[in-house]
Amino acid sequence: MESQRSLPRTIFVVRSGVENAWIQDAAAASAVAAFVSEEHVPAGAPIAVILDQSVLPDREEYICTRDWRVVVNAIATLKVRGAPAIGIAGSIALMLFAFADSSTAQLAGGAPCKGDVEEGRAPEGFDVAAYEAALTSCAQTIAHTRPTAVSLSRAVDASLECARTCLSAHMDACSIAEALFEVACARIQEDERINRAIGEAGAPLLKDHPCVLTHCNAGSLATGYFGTALGVVYAAASHGWIERVYADETRPVCQGSRLTVWELSRAHIPTTLICDDMAAYVMSRGLVQACIVGADRIAANGDVANKIGTLSVAINAHHFNIPFYVAAPLETIDFALPSGSDIPIEMRGEDEVCKEPPFGVDILNPAFDVTPAELVTAIITEEGVYAPHELAGVAPLSAASSMKRMR
Ligand code: MRU
Repeated sequence: MESQRSLPRTIFVVRSGVENAWIQDAAAASAVAAFVSEEHVPAGAPIAVILDQSVLPDREEYICTRDWRVVVNAIATLKVRGAPAIGIAGSIALMLFAFADSSTAQLAGGAPCKGDVEEGRAPEGFDVAAYEAALTSCAQTIAHTRPTAVSLSRAVDASLECARTCLSAHMDACSIAEALFEVACARIQEDERINRAIGEAGAPLLKDHPCVLTHCNAGSLATGYFGTALGVVYAAASHGWIERVYADETRPVCQGSRLTVWELSRAHIPTTLICDDMAAYVMSRGLVQACIVGADRIAANGDVANKIGTLSVAINAHHFNIPFYVAAPLETIDFALPSGSDIPIEMRGEDEVCKEPPFGVDILNPAFDVTPAELVTAIITEEGVYAPHELAGVAPLSAASSMKRMR
């Protein structure tokens, strides 16, 4: 479909000197080429490529790096953001750490090490316990960078699990780094597959609801590709069912007015930008027939943590009898947490709200809020659409899905 071809790809990995279909536009291609030449990157070395969302829409700049700490900083400073995208960033960060930590002569060239290891014996000079401890500590640092989105810790745990499996198979550090590269690539591919499936599952819900309101950015920019909430919009638009999207500005970081509006315009979807406090007006005038948002974590009872302001949208939608849909991968559901009050809420810096607080007032900046299950009409996943109270029955499906992701 024409509009989907122009969706942005926000985070991926390439290998120096190797053609990669994930490099879609000239800006990404020239950023990678410049990085390889300026940093003298050896052939075959893995490079993380991040579309810097903190400067969008003013500038389309790509960060290229081989340093896991640069990726962690990009997560912390919202250069890469959105639950699935930071999960991908987490697995890329751990992979880069593994390549750097296995700093052998072979790795300096980025080429795979010789993995010839005698059966049942760790490679000579390879301190397995120290290696595992270093990897675990790095994984913890990455996972704690942003606490609300469960995708980040799930992604890092999956990579760590893969590394431990490799260690028990007596593989050397170079081979483990290679395995983590494969895990990161698989996560990107799987995320796109999941988002497209969410889109197909959710599109019929918008068939008779041509004007929808969304909050924050749950689009291609927030994921490996395509998006969750906006993925449903794109899938519905491909059937001709979307007339217009109303995008909340989403203070304080303005994911709506900077990112959603940019992404929807690239996809040629008619869009109206509104300030957050205009949502009730738009609903009261009958301008939207449905609301659709993403999620950072969903508790077992169907309570949904998402970008701050989502709760207001849900309360307004309930008041005006407008369906309120949440679109998210199954891995977003945290069955270990009975209710939304158990979800950790990230508090962010004051300067996001106000650079210089007037009169020395205090500033509160919770990045997320929790919408209670009773305000959620349905949760759209890659396996189908569920009422929040039906989630308990989805648990086995979710487990099967995460297993698939690990392989
Ligand atoms: O702070 P952010 O921009 O990472 O918050 C993002 C959101 O709240 C998204 O709605 C959520 O992660 C779902 S993204 C598909």
